[in-house]
Amino acid sequence: MRLLFTGRAVRAARKSFISPTKPNRRINTNAAVESEFSRDVPIRGVEPDTRSIRPTDIHPTEQSAASSQGDPFKAFLLEKQEPNTIINRDANSGVVISSTPYRLDSTSNLSPSILKLLDRRLYLEPNHPISITRKLIESVFPQPVYQNYIATNPVVSTAANFDLLGFPADHPGRSTTDTYYVNKDRVLRTHSSAHQPAAFQKMLKPGSASGYTICADVFRRDSIDRSHFPVFHQMEGARLWRKPRKDERGLPLSTYESFHRRRDTMKKNLEELGTTTVDAEDPAPAFTLDNRNPRQLSHHHEEVRLMAAHLKRSLETLVDKVFSAAKQASISSGHLDPSANSEPLKVRWVEAYFPFTTPSWELEVYWQDSWLELLGCGIVQQSILEQADLSDHIGWAWGLGIERLAMLLFNIPDIRLFWSEDRRFLDQFQAGKISRYEPFSKYPACYKDVAFWIDPSPAAASPILSEPSSSAAATGGLAASAGGDSTKSPPSSSPTKLHKSAFHENDVMEIVRDVAGSLAEDVRLVDEFVHPTQGRKSLCYRISYRSLERTLTNEEVNDLHARICERLGEMGAVELR
Ligand code: PHE
Repeated sequence: MRLLFTGRAVRAARKSFISPTKPNRRINTNAAVESEFSRDVPIRGVEPDTRSIRPTDIHPTEQSAASSQGDPFKAFLLEKQEPNTIINRDANSGVVISSTPYRLDSTSNLSPSILKLLDRRLYLEPNHPISITRKLIESVFPQPVYQNYIATNPVVSTAANFDLLGFPADHPGRSTTDTYYVNKDRVLRTHSSAHQPAAFQKMLKPGSASGYTICADVFRRDSIDRSHFPVFHQMEGARLWRKPRKDERGLPLSTYESFHRRRDTMKKNLEELGTTTVDAEDPAPAFTLDNRNPRQLSHHHEEVRLMAAHLKRSLETLVDKVFSAAKQASISSGHLDPSANSEPLKVRWVEAYFPFTTPSWELEVYWQDSWLELLGCGIVQQSILEQADLSDHIGWAWGLGIERLAMLLFNIPDIRLFWSEDRRFLDQFQAGKISRYEPFSKYPACYKDVAFWIDPSPAAASPILSEPSSSAAATGGLAASAGGDSTKSPPSSSPTKLHKSAFHENDVMEIVRDVAGSLAEDVRLVDEFVHPTQGRKSLCYRISYRSLERTLTNEEVNDLHARICERLGEMGAVELR
């Protein structure tokens, strides 16, 4: 179940946590298949890996603290050399992720299916659509102004993922139903913003870049359908401007003078961006100090105006480049008549809310007859820069979901395909080129229902009171930023305090993923009712099994389904019907 937004006003007023960077239910995947892109047309400005600078890795500075020093069990985990596998010994339980040992505790909810996906590093496979899209985005934010990072270790502290970014203690994204916990202090990052503090700290060094991009795989416990997968990729960007303290001769500048110098640099940088051909609708370019989408008190309105203009122009340039590359490719290959589609790309800016930026916006693109949310962005909260010892700096940040863009660019109809190891999928793409995905075959789906009673405790009732997931999928519900969804779970400041036996839909999803893996195409609630006398609630989920690579046999599906039912039966909070 997801939060259904009915309008912008509601969105801004509720200060809800939205996540435009999540693969979007609004993507009309069927429409995406039908859209026209060509095969093998080079993306202008993006070179294959061999000719470009490789992005550098980024680790939160505290990462090194998680070593095995002084902990014999962690040393044992390293000795075992079984990465991404839960290892138990005596009363201890742990896992090695990205060569780092972690102890698990009662908060841990890592599943074997998620651990299996940790070392794929699709963003580094030069010929993979995720990597091709990453490089296309990086080409708009290139070195030396931007340092292009990749964050390889997905384990971050709860502080980096939530606290340092200003997430309130009761934010639903922190719950174990929405986020994968390694232990009570560490999670699989739910967004690339978890690396903001580390990336900002790197900007302290004299002569370092004044901006960055970060590419990372991110993890959210979520529903199962063609545009949701528990791992997806995000790209994050930021740009800062420093108030100079001294002039060219090393003499101290007055506050007034240094403010003016920073403002002049911002003006110059804005001019350098040039113009784009996109038709941008921006109903609220101004901002006020009221609480709708306020600027920060310490920011001068002229600075905010310039930063916002630079941010928006940079992102319009990105969108322009991405969508014209796609259009150009379609035209060159004869899939699109050049005269039929000569209108400029339409985009619009919408007020938004993120705990770590203000004012904030989303960018929507008009694509195949509907508005598609593409990214979230805003002016970085000054407190975050201060924590990184960058109080002389101000700047902007944005974040987007790579799959959402890649599905449009390459006509990829199902998010599971990105994880396919089938050569018939992988061999269709080449570094530096946008290729139209040609489905190699459509294998039949097999549907099976599972019905159960849920525990009638009050906590159990809340997750399923809103609309069934099927309707949410159609109407475009949005996940909360960083994996939360305020309709889903009883919020809790401590993940361990959660009502363990309460039913949560994501637990069903996790069982289905563990047993069926990517053979589960879709899981949706098809029926729910309350027993007239007992007051118990019954739910019926329909699981659609389909392989992207072959036809599943009846026995195979029956076996998978029986195992799922068995696992559901073992789950304390439900009783199979
Ligand atoms: N991290 C946000 C998300 O996952 C996106 C974002 C990044 C928004 C940076 C603003 C600035 O939804």
